[in-house]
Amino acid sequence: MFSNQTVEKFSSLRTPFYYYDTPVLRHTLDALKKAASKHDFHVHYAMKANTNDVLLDIIRSNGLGADCVSGNEVKRALECGFAAHDVVFAGVGKSDEEIMYALQHDILCFNCESLQEMEVIDGLAKSMNKKTRIAIRINPNVNANTHHLWELETVVAALKQLTSLELIGLHFHIGSQITDLSAFKSLCLRVNEIQEWFVSRKIALTHINVGGGLGVDYHQPDTHTIPDFESYFNIFAQFLERRRGQQVHFELGRAVIAQCGSLISRVLYVKKGIRTDFTILDAGMTELIRPALYQSYHKIENISPRIPKDAPMQRYDVVGPICESSDCFGKAVDLPETRRGDLVAIRTAGAYGEVMMSQYNLRDRAGVHYSDTL
Ligand code: LLP
Repeated sequence: MFSNQTVEKFSSLRTPFYYYDTPVLRHTLDALKKAASKHDFHVHYAMKANTNDVLLDIIRSNGLGADCVSGNEVKRALECGFAAHDVVFAGVGKSDEEIMYALQHDILCFNCESLQEMEVIDGLAKSMNKKTRIAIRINPNVNANTHHLWELETVVAALKQLTSLELIGLHFHIGSQITDLSAFKSLCLRVNEIQEWFVSRKIALTHINVGGGLGVDYHQPDTHTIPDFESYFNIFAQFLERRRGQQVHFELGRAVIAQCGSLISRVLYVKKGIRTDFTILDAGMTELIRPALYQSYHKIENISPRIPKDAPMQRYDVVGPICESSDCFGKAVDLPETRRGDLVAIRTAGAYGEVMMSQYNLRDRAGVHYSDTL
């Protein structure tokens, strides 16, 4: 929802641009902290969702750690003032250079996805006279790419020789944009089983990292602006069997940052079609690739002040300027009669929006504006 005053200010700005409503981010963080602190849960922000410095600064100053998936994300987190002991580093393909960078800075933990990776980290740590902490990534659904339970025996035996590594915990992540919270209950039950395996071998784990994945409401960003963190964390408090002294960590990205961001664009042309009319925007999949890549839904609104509240609706395909059929933000979208020059907001674009932009077609980078400095 944008006030007339805000839209007035938008009118003089070059489009397209990302607009971040920082009070929404602050309220989201307040709700998150309140719900997590009840259970003494630790939350790391999944940097991959958005690495904008201004937002990172707000997130860090609210006491979240950082979950990184590349050396450059680790670097950005440290530059933005996240303490090294609040930084974790995950990813299936960490390069030697990235590992050495993280080792140099003594981050909290490497989330490891294969034995070979552990051997490489151990070798690099030895060559640098360092010791480091690791967590074993386990896929609770036993899919490809991550450790299967039957592999754990081998991994744990091998770790005895990898003397520069200290196993501190387990890492899980079951997916993203999860709105059915019962999936997290199933995760807890699986984690409990897997923990039993370690307990029976007298291996103490101090950290359980359950990943991220809490979804947001793309359809009703104004009525469900803040995700239901309370219910989410309550599930873990209720179903995860926490051992004495064990820390529980989360890696939330989308739930933290999605709702505070919108992509603001101008209508370039309205074209009559045979079956449908087209609204052609000056933003395209270069600025927000989610609809093209995942057929994701984002709410699209014509926010021009000239439009009366009760304006009759018309149906449009809302597309971008790139000559590809995938450059489409929405088909059969109901909007008030739309004209060249109207301002359009594509909502819930704070997560996996700005970070996934490209310069395809040699397009200019979209601008970035914030509610408090507009
Ligand atoms: N932890 C791990 C290990 C992950 O792989 C991810 C996301 C997260 C945490 C954060 O998940 P979140 O809380 O944001 O759901 N580009 C896609 C999303 C990819 C998510 C990949 N992993 C999109 O635009 O929907």
